[in-house]
Amino acid sequence: MSNSFGKLFRFSIFGQSHAPAIGVIIEGLPSGFEIDVEKLSAFLARRAPGGRYATSRKEPDAPEFIAGLVDGKTCGAPVTAIIKNTNTRSSDYEYMRHIPRPGHADFAAMVKYGPSRDYSGGGQFSGRLTAPLCIAGGIAMQLLEKRGVSVGSRILSIGGERDEEKMFELIDKARADGDSVGGVIECTVSGLYPGVGEPMFDGLENRIAQAVFGVPAVKGIEFGAGFESAGMLGSECNDPFYLDDEGKVRTRGNNHGGILGGISSGMPIVFRVAIKPTPSIAKEQPSVNMERKENCTLQVRGRHDPCIVPRALPCIEAAAAAAIYDLILESER
Ligand SMILES: Cc1cc2nc3c(=O)[nH]c(=O)nc-3n(C[C@H](O)[C@H](O)[C@H](O)COP(=O)(O)O)c2cc1C
Repeated sequence: MSNSFGKLFRFSIFGQSHAPAIGVIIEGLPSGFEIDVEKLSAFLARRAPGGRYATSRKEPDAPEFIAGLVDGKTCGAPVTAIIKNTNTRSSDYEYMRHIPRPGHADFAAMVKYGPSRDYSGGGQFSGRLTAPLCIAGGIAMQLLEKRGVSVGSRILSIGGERDEEKMFELIDKARADGDSVGGVIECTVSGLYPGVGEPMFDGLENRIAQAVFGVPAVKGIEFGAGFESAGMLGSECNDPFYLDDEGKVRTRGNNHGGILGGISSGMPIVFRVAIKPTPSIAKEQPSVNMERKENCTLQVRGRHDPCIVPRALPCIEAAAAAAIYDLILESER
């Protein structure tokens, strides 16, 4: 089982969608660090349900720090935060005991964990588990900011559409049709100095990808020019070096996405993430009743986003921040 990420900045996520609480235990924070809780709450609010394009499950996602802080400052013990699950309607999910939702983790969880699994609200596979990820990543972001490193993201497209108004029209249409849409997020990390990242299996790309795939519904990631670079000539793809006015080595263009050999080049780290459409849709879909061993149809009930992409933005930032902060600590060892 791996609900943990990181080597020196290490965190473990626990809980299920309808358990009494979800949370995170974080190790590797410097002692005496004051977490800006207001800022962290504002970060978590970007992920929380509610708003025009989100599910009607409304929960404030207020983190409660139950260990590791004294007078608001880290004391060296693991920092542990929980978020209570208050708005659960498990009856919405009773049908999922035997009938897996196409596109969701239900079938895989049935096979792997058997009848004891927690299927309610998607159990441990719920998008809700990205709230504790945002606590760990939000704290990593605050530590990165102290080092002049900032992490930001934006929506590049929804359902293949890049025009903002059209993107949101597509979401509205999907909702009205009982359907869902996916999209692409672009994340940029600025201010990271050159030399962060380890070779081969622990490079920035490896670790960022590992963390980002911890966000459910992520189906792809590309760095810099990514898949487009496969069709370029070397002379087009290479980013030429030059010395800037301060004598720093920079590149013209950033097809390499700020990473060379798994190690930061000093240019902004840029990567894009493909988020699939929300699996739970109101439209009728074929599935299998696993108890009766017969084909059936399924109409998903419960409260689900017609598009996960807007709420996934802080999750991707959190994953990137955690991976990068961990690698910074490794490079400073
Ligand atoms: C912020 C967020 C919210 C999500 N909300 C839902 C949801 O309401 N309904 C749903 O079916 N899937 C939702 N998901 C996606 C599922 O959790 C995910 O597709 C499922 O666990 C299967 O994992 P996979 O898509 O990575 O294979 C959400 C994901 C994120 C990141």
